[in-house]
Amino acid sequence: MGVSNQRATNIVVLTGAGISAESGLKTFRGDGGLWEGERIEDVCTPEAFARDPVRVNRFYNERRRQLLKSAKPNPAHMALADFERRHSGQLTLITQNVDNLHEQAGSSHVMHMHGELLKARCLSTLTILPWHDDITADTPCPCCHQVGRLRPHIVWFGEIPFYMFDIDDALASCDVFIAVGTSGTVCPAAGFVEQAASHGAHTIELNLEATSARFDEHIEGLASVELPKLLNRLAEPFAQAVQ
Ligand code: APR
Repeated sequence: MGVSNQRATNIVVLTGAGISAESGLKTFRGDGGLWEGERIEDVCTPEAFARDPVRVNRFYNERRRQLLKSAKPNPAHMALADFERRHSGQLTLITQNVDNLHEQAGSSHVMHMHGELLKARCLSTLTILPWHDDITADTPCPCCHQVGRLRPHIVWFGEIPFYMFDIDDALASCDVFIAVGTSGTVCPAAGFVEQAASHGAHTIELNLEATSARFDEHIEGLASVELPKLLNRLAEPFAQAVQ
C-alpha cells in the first residue's frame, strides 16, 4: 500500500537522529544507551545540569565543536530543502535534532522542538542567544553580564518541547505525515503519527527498520537514499499509487 493517488499538498515531516547519522552525528540509541559515551540521564536533564553544570556544558561543548568542525548536510537534508522550494503545497518540517544540518542544507522555518545546539539561554532573563563557542562556568552572559548563568538551549527530559501549538495545528491539517530516522520512543514526538492519522493523513515511516505497526507505509533503507526518492514521488502532480 502506498500513498494514495491524490495530490499530497499539505505535508508534515518529522526528522530524528537517523537523518543526521550519515553526516557523522551519532544517534541516541545505537550504543547500548550511551550517547557519545554518556548516559542520557547524566547529561540531558535539568537535575544533571543543577548537579554538575560543568559536565553537562562540557558534553554539549563537544557536540557543538563536532557540528561546527565536521558535520555537513547529506542528500536527505538536501532533498528536503529542494522539496521545500519546488512543492506548491505546504511543507512543515519538525525536527527532534539539535544540529543545524537542515538549515545548512537550505531548509527554512525548521521547528526544533528539542532546541538547538548553536544557541544558549540566559538563566536570569531567558534570553536566547546564537552560540558557537564553549560555555564554561566563567563564560559571562552577554545580556546580564553574570558568569555561570548560561545553559545550552536544549530541551532536556522533563522539560516542555518547543512549537507544540504549531505542531498540533500542522498535524491536524496535513495530508501526509512522514517520520524520518526516528525510533519513535520519546514523547510527544512518538505520538505524532497517531495525531496525523486521526485527522485522515497518510502516514509513512522511513527508517533502517520498521519501529512500529502504526504507519500506513514503511520505507526501509538509508534516509540519504530513500528520502530523495520519496520526495520525488510526492512532488509529481499526482502522487502515484505504489504497491
Ligand atoms: N537512515 C534512516 N534511519 C536511520 C539511519 C539512516 N541512515 N540511521 C539510523 N536510523 C534510525 C534508527 O533505526 C533509529 O530508529 O534512526 C533512529 C534513531 O533513533 P534514536 O537514536 O532514538 O533518535 P531519535 O528518535 O531522534 O531520538 C528522539 O530522544 O534522547 C532523545 O532528545 C533526544 O531528540 C532525541 C529523542
